[in-house]
Amino acid sequence: MRGGAEHSMGSGGAMARGPLPCYLLLLAQENLEFRLPEIKSLLSLCGGQFSSQQEICINSPFWILNIPSEEMARGLMKRTVCAKSIFELWGHGKSAEELYTSLKNYPMEKMVPYLQSNSTYKIHIHAFNKTLTQEEKIKRIDALEFLPFEGKVNLKNPEHIFWILEDYGMDPNNIPEEPLDLYFGRWIADGQRELIESYSVKRRHFIGNTSMDACLSFIMANHGRVKANDVVFDPFVGTGGLLISSARFGAYVCGTDIDYNTVHGLGKASRKNQKWRGPDENIRANLRQYGLEKYYLDALISDASKPIWRKEMLFDAIITDPPYGIREATRRTGSQKEILKATERGTENHISISSNYHLSDIFFDLLNSAAEYLVMGGRLVYWLPVYKPEYTEEIIPRHPCLKLISNCEQMLSSHTSRRLITMEKVKEFEDNDQYSHLLDYQSLLYKGHNAFREKYFSGVTKRIAKEEKDNQK
Ligand SMILES: C[S@@+](CC[C@H](N)C(=O)[O-])C[C@H]1O[C@@H](n2cnc3c(N)ncnc32)[C@H](O)[C@@H]1O
Repeated sequence: MRGGAEHSMGSGGAMARGPLPCYLLLLAQENLEFRLPEIKSLLSLCGGQFSSQQEICINSPFWILNIPSEEMARGLMKRTVCAKSIFELWGHGKSAEELYTSLKNYPMEKMVPYLQSNSTYKIHIHAFNKTLTQEEKIKRIDALEFLPFEGKVNLKNPEHIFWILEDYGMDPNNIPEEPLDLYFGRWIADGQRELIESYSVKRRHFIGNTSMDACLSFIMANHGRVKANDVVFDPFVGTGGLLISSARFGAYVCGTDIDYNTVHGLGKASRKNQKWRGPDENIRANLRQYGLEKYYLDALISDASKPIWRKEMLFDAIITDPPYGIREATRRTGSQKEILKATERGTENHISISSNYHLSDIFFDLLNSAAEYLVMGGRLVYWLPVYKPEYTEEIIPRHPCLKLISNCEQMLSSHTSRRLITMEKVKEFEDNDQYSHLLDYQSLLYKGHNAFREKYFSGVTKRIAKEEKDNQK
């Protein structure tokens, strides 16, 4: 990936001066596909854009970014759950010699403020895909004696932390003797990885069978560029897992769900050792658990196929996990009479001919309401279940008012996955936008999506899984 930064790398990995400073991002090695859209979305939220003078290796834990300021780097880290830390990059090389040359070329005036005699510092060493001995670590620190560190070492509470980072590649069965890449940088900030633990569904007050995992919920809010004072809507709100992450970022949140019991926290509990839901198991209590109740607008019992909103752009983001019919039913309202009438009218007015809410209709309705009720530039983020053998990019639902921003896969099984789709509203909604574009897609959509449930449960999937297992023997 090549960006438009004006920096260039000199020979021996030395960094030439240029208007955009270099930062090193250390990323977590999970949810790999979700990382770039997250970083891009957050940079654009901070008023910047993703730019790297280097070819970034999408699966690597190290990315060099060129961004205008440390303030933007800090802004990014206040939100990311995909990145662990960011560093002001002082040097980079493919060998220790290259790293030292690069460091010697780093402008002294940029180093000096952090090396003062009245300051304290420590040097931390991080090796990816290798464990270094204490002796090896000390050797690396000693090799940096050419840097004019004048402050005092303080291991417990230093003012400045410098990192040596070494990359030994991504193959644990083939670890090279020497690192493939070496970096030296000044630590600036950590990301928000601790949110994954502190918002874990395991300790959440109110959960259901399909409560969204905390890390993915934060990733979704980040892909949706949710920001303070936004209004975020989840049309399939369930236990409100997706409201929590948006509220954590300061957005006001609301949702709808067709299930009365879920919205009111009634009925059977999802926890193993509990039969019925307790008196205060509901979405509001979840937000209260995290001190976020003030961001909760409400949850209404409503069918997503029949939008209840007045005709106006209402939401800054729609972030949702529609039902796939695997662990929850896909239903919509409709009386027997309506069903009969709809059968007579055919499909042109898009009224359900059955009380089963087909997956293709769910996405059709979801895109239409996003096009209608999102503010301009607002984002729709949702999960699309996919039967992998039949997946092509064409089955991703489109809409003339929505631009596809990203499409990231999460495996569910060897043959099924779900894709996190992010779209942005780029055009005002007009009445004739409603169905025209989708009619062409309709047969494709039906084929691609409606069969998901059958295929998920079918003998075909079991057979494939068995064949794969046998092949591994
Ligand atoms: C995958 S779950 C959402 C889980 C949610 N993200 C959470 O964290 O708990 C899908 C939800 O859609 C609801 N649902 C199904 N059909 C619906 C419809 N026609 N309109 C609105 N909600 C519907 C189900 O009751 C279920 O709660």
